[in-house]
Amino acid sequence: MNGINTIRAVFLNSQRDALIILDQTLLPNEVKYLSLSTPEEIFQAICELKVRGAPAIGIAAAYGLCVVLRNFPGDSFEEFYNEFIRIKSLFASSRPTAVNLFWALERLDARVLRDRWKPLANIKEALYEEAAAIASEDEEVCRQIGEHALTLLRDGWGILTHCNAGTIATTRYGTALAPIHIGTQKGYRFTVYADESRPLLQGARLTTWELTAAGIDVVLICDNMASIVMKQGKVQAAIVGCDRVAANGDAANKIGTSGVAILARHYEIPFYVAAPISTIDMNCATGDDIIIEERPSEEITEKWYKKRMAPEGIRVYNPAFDVTDHELISAIVTEKGIIYPPYNEQLPLVAGRN
Ligand code: MRU
Repeated sequence: MNGINTIRAVFLNSQRDALIILDQTLLPNEVKYLSLSTPEEIFQAICELKVRGAPAIGIAAAYGLCVVLRNFPGDSFEEFYNEFIRIKSLFASSRPTAVNLFWALERLDARVLRDRWKPLANIKEALYEEAAAIASEDEEVCRQIGEHALTLLRDGWGILTHCNAGTIATTRYGTALAPIHIGTQKGYRFTVYADESRPLLQGARLTTWELTAAGIDVVLICDNMASIVMKQGKVQAAIVGCDRVAANGDAANKIGTSGVAILARHYEIPFYVAAPISTIDMNCATGDDIIIEERPSEEITEKWYKKRMAPEGIRVYNPAFDVTDHELISAIVTEKGIIYPPYNEQLPLVAGRN
């Protein structure tokens, strides 16, 4: 069975009055879909990583706006737009690092303003259209990223990845996992080393689940084992997803990613970042401008343990992302092709200023 043909992480129900998400906090033990229709439910689901991964968050927020605003009463554009901005700001406050969230919300905002002279019913329909376009474009973008990234990989390689930048983080294919899925469909055989990705274990819980469902050979390792598998020659390339690329090529991704890049440089293994153009933020000059989300201490001290494993009241630092220095990135793979250094010269050519 090829799981990516059947797994969908975020979509609308057939009546279009609820956002349906695969609850990723329950994986791999339970495959459960949630039906969300209030702003608070959608906001909470994003905050709690029930839906997660930069593109999927953007799609969830976009569909979420449609669902929440579909029954907005009356015919005043001004009142509608005030409510639109209120919900948009709520969703925008859910997770600060993934630029796709803001990009998707801005796309809907621009669409509302463009159609402002139309009756509200048409504006509401236009929102659905825009959100659906974001979702379906994402599938094509990920497919193209996968095709480009596959040219960097060889049949039989061991590939290390961190976190989950797969089908369940996007409409389909994923970004970092897209070449693995597409390559497998073409007959390549990869062995994927999935970092567990402490503290929320997206690698252990999600990447292993997704790749196993697709019939792909996957080996789970703890984050601190990346060095030994590289030293032992088991890994020929590392590829990760990304939440925001700065104009100089610095790239924010799940905490622990920059350590993988440092190790890869030491062992002379190529380190690739896979990201849609919408993830490139030309308004951030360097990685220092990227806001790093900090998350609750309980995720480290007790979330995955039968009993808490650190003393009560211990001070905890829990940054959810880190920034990989552009000098450590061999190439950034986008839907428009593979971008090589110098990134400060090459990124503006593909991304312009967004
Ligand atoms: O905190 P998460 O699970 O949302 O973090 C996800 C990542 O870091 C992904 O690599 C990134 O969003 C790209 S998903 C295609």
